[in-house]
Amino acid sequence: MSGMNILSVASEIYPLIKTGGLADVAGALPGALARENMRVVTLVPGYPAVMAKLEKPTPAHRYDYFFGAPAQILAGKGCGLDLFVLDAAHLFARPGSPYLDPNGVDWADNGLRFAALARAGADVAKGPIPGFAPDLVHVHDWQAALTPAYLHYDGGSRPATIITVHNLAFQGGFPPTILGAIGLPGHAMNIDGVEYYGSVGYLKAGLQFADRITTVSPTYAREIMTPEGGMGLDGLLRKRADIVSGILNGIDDEVWNPATDIHLPQPFNSQRIDNRPRNKTILQKRMDLAPRPDAPLFGLVSRLSWQKGVDLLLEALPALVADGGQFAMLGSGEKALEDGFAEAARRHAGSVGCVFAYDEGLAHLIQGGADFLLVPSRFEPCGLTQLCALRYGAIPIVTRVGGLADTVVDANEAALSAGVATGLQFAPPNAVELAHAIRRAKALFQDDAATRRTRLNGMRADVSWRGPAKRYAQLYRELAGAPAAAAAAA
Ligand code: ADP
Ligand code: GLC
Repeated sequence: MSGMNILSVASEIYPLIKTGGLADVAGALPGALARENMRVVTLVPGYPAVMAKLEKPTPAHRYDYFFGAPAQILAGKGCGLDLFVLDAAHLFARPGSPYLDPNGVDWADNGLRFAALARAGADVAKGPIPGFAPDLVHVHDWQAALTPAYLHYDGGSRPATIITVHNLAFQGGFPPTILGAIGLPGHAMNIDGVEYYGSVGYLKAGLQFADRITTVSPTYAREIMTPEGGMGLDGLLRKRADIVSGILNGIDDEVWNPATDIHLPQPFNSQRIDNRPRNKTILQKRMDLAPRPDAPLFGLVSRLSWQKGVDLLLEALPALVADGGQFAMLGSGEKALEDGFAEAARRHAGSVGCVFAYDEGLAHLIQGGADFLLVPSRFEPCGLTQLCALRYGAIPIVTRVGGLADTVVDANEAALSAGVATGLQFAPPNAVELAHAIRRAKALFQDDAATRRTRLNGMRADVSWRGPAKRYAQLYRELAGAPAAAAAAA
C-alpha cells in the first residue's frame, strides 16, 4: 500500500501543549511519518493553549449534545501540524494543566473529559469528516485509550487500531457508575470488556480492544509483561503478547540541534566540540555554581516524581559534591522533592544549583553545558532526556531499565576499548549504586581522551525519528486491512 491516512489521538502535543514526553512524541512523529508517505492528523482536546494556536479553524463535525453540552470538531493547523481539535468548552476551556486544576488536583471530571476525546476519536475514525477517511487509528495512553473500545461496541466496519503505552503507571480508572455517562453499554462491564478490578479501566480497555499494542522501547515491552513491571496489567499483556512490541522513541533533531540551538550561547557539533565548554561556563553562572572548568558538572532535567528516582539523587548528593563535583538541576513536581533539593542547594552553595520550573531554554543549556546528565529512574518506558543528552554531548548516567537500557552503551572496559561506549548504566536503582556510578563518571572525567571519545560516540549516535518512523510505518502497512479479516473470522 502506498500512502495512508492515519488518525492519531493524543491528550497533548508539542509545541502546543506539553506536560511530558508524550507531547514530544505526538508532535514529532507526524513529520517523520510524512517522509514514509503517511499523512497523520492528530485529534487533541481544545485546551485554551491549543485554541489560541489553531490556524484557520474550519468546523468539521458538529455535536448538538456531547458529554453535557454542544461541541464541535475543528480542522486546522497549529505550529505546522495537521489537527482535529475537540472544541468542547465545558470540558477543556480551563486554566491549569491538561489534567490538574490550579491546586494541582486531578480535574474531578477527567473520566468524562477523556472519554469525550476518545469518543470523538472513534467518530472521526468512522469517517464523518469529509475528505479524511483514516486507514488506521493510533491512540496514545489512557486518555485516548477508549477509542478502540468505542469502535468495538459500536460494531460495524472500522479501521485498524494501535495503542501506544507511554507509561503504564497512568491507567485512568473510574467508578463503574461512569459507564452510562460515557455511553458504553452495561455489558461492557466485564472482565473481557472495560472492567478492571471493579472500575472502568480506560487503559485496560485500550489494551483489550486495540489490534496492536506498542510501547516506547523493546525492554519496556518485556518489562510490562512481568508481574514486577506490569502494574496489574501484565496478565492481559501476556495474553496478548503476540501483538505487543516495542518501538524506541526518537527526538526531533531540528528542535534538538546543538549546531543551531538558539538557547546555547555557543553552538557546537561533533566537529566543533571544542566550543562546548563555553556553555558550561554560562551554565555555571546561571545556576550560581563556582566558575570551575575542571569540576565535573552533573545535570538533571526531570519531572520530580518517584518514577524518576530523584529522591535517590538527594541521597547520593554528598558523593556527587565530594571532591568538587557540581550539580545543576531543572525540575518541577512533588513539593517534598523540591524542598529537599532547595535545602541541598543551601547546604552546598556553589556546588548545587536548582531551578524549580518548566523552562525549555534552560533544559537546552543544561544538555549543552553539563558534562553528564543523570537519569536515575526506577522505571522508564523510553526516556527522552538521555537521547537529548547523547546528541548534546552530556554523557548520560542512567539506570539499566526500559528505554534507558536500550539507548545507552555502558562505558565498561570492553565497550571503552571497542570504542562504542556512550554513557554509564547502573542497577538496581538505589542510592548506593547511583553514588557508585557517579564515582565511575568522575574517574572517566579524569581521562580526557576517554571522556571525549564517549561524548563523541553519543553525539554520533542516531537518536532521530527516522528509524522509529520506518518501524511505525511498517506496522501501519502490516495492519491495514487486518480488522476486516478479523471481522470475517468472527
Ligand atoms: P516523562 O515524559 O516521563 O516526563 P521523558 O524523558 O520522556 O519523560 O520526557 C520529558 C520531556 O520533558 C523532555 O522533553 C524534557 O526535556 C522535558 N522536561 C522535563 N522537565 C522539564 C523542565 N522542568 N523544563 C523543561 N523541560 C522539561
Ligand atoms: C512517558 C514516559 C517516558 C517516555 C514518554 C514518551 O512520559 O515516562 O519514558 O519517554 O512517555 O514516550
